[in-house]
Amino acid sequence: MSKIKTIGLLTSGGDAPGMNAAIRAVTRAGIYNDFTVKGIYRGYEGLINGEMKTLTTEDVSGIINRGGTILKTARSMEFMTPEGMQKAYETCKREEIDALIVIGGNGSLTGARDFGMEFDFPVIGLPGTIDNDLYGTDATIGYDTTMNTIMECVDRIRDTANSHERIFFVEVMGRDAGYLAMNAALACGAEAAIVPEEVTNEDQLAEFMKRGIRKSKKSCIVIVSESQKCGAMYYAERVKKEFPGFDVRVSILGHLQRGGTPSARDRVLASVLGVAAIEAIKMGQRNMMIGIHHNDAALVPFTEAIRTDKFFDKRLLEVLNELSI
Ligand code: F6P
Repeated sequence: MSKIKTIGLLTSGGDAPGMNAAIRAVTRAGIYNDFTVKGIYRGYEGLINGEMKTLTTEDVSGIINRGGTILKTARSMEFMTPEGMQKAYETCKREEIDALIVIGGNGSLTGARDFGMEFDFPVIGLPGTIDNDLYGTDATIGYDTTMNTIMECVDRIRDTANSHERIFFVEVMGRDAGYLAMNAALACGAEAAIVPEEVTNEDQLAEFMKRGIRKSKKSCIVIVSESQKCGAMYYAERVKKEFPGFDVRVSILGHLQRGGTPSARDRVLASVLGVAAIEAIKMGQRNMMIGIHHNDAALVPFTEAIRTDKFFDKRLLEVLNELSI
């Protein structure tokens, strides 16, 4: 195996608060360990088109506290094609990039795995997504900040919900995963959460209405995971039709959940994982995501990380139920 001198670094997929802290950590740990770190712009698109810059330690100054990603990001369709991947590989050869570090979510790490396998190329992934849906890591970079953002928003919604004695359906992101919805509901003292992991979505509402929308007060907040078919609007419409006595409103939090200053927890996580990514490259690791497990960096093979059956603790729905009397 030839010695790795130059590492290409990119962020891909949905941006997540803390990605900049990870870019900083990888760059500084890379330089500290005598690597050249090339920052690739716009994710895999930039890798295909050769858009990059060698990062200096100054380039990553003053970014630990900034949301988004200074390297920009994209969801590249071209990279999913054999031709696109080939172009990306040609860029690596031309730019003398010997290894890649990819910060992103499920789709991005799937691309990382495919690229690594196709060209026998060393790739290390960092879990960067607000959805927290990667297997083998207790948390993903961005999840904690987004949880806090949702909590702040729902606290505000609670004021008006209380004043008007209304039911609010608040829709949060998460793609196909309910971690944000479930845990935000607990953190906000919401009355219910509707999550994709509980397969019978319709019944979730029926059951919730049956047990009494609110026992001790007339307002209530239900956190709903985003969904094409059964998002917050769907449930609000159903309540309007089936329980016309209630005053119902919807709030879809949308992309404001992805922005903002990263939390302390996300900054620390990103810093620890960024350093561990460089360490993994030094140790000759490849095709691995660096996750966090029991407060320690853990190597997770890409094929594991992108599994779709990460443990979802449904007992938390019971906890929510019990605490919303
Ligand atoms: O994966 C992160 C995420 O924010 C999901 O929660 C959401 O479904 C999706 O990205 C939205 O993507 P986009 O910004 O491309 O619309």
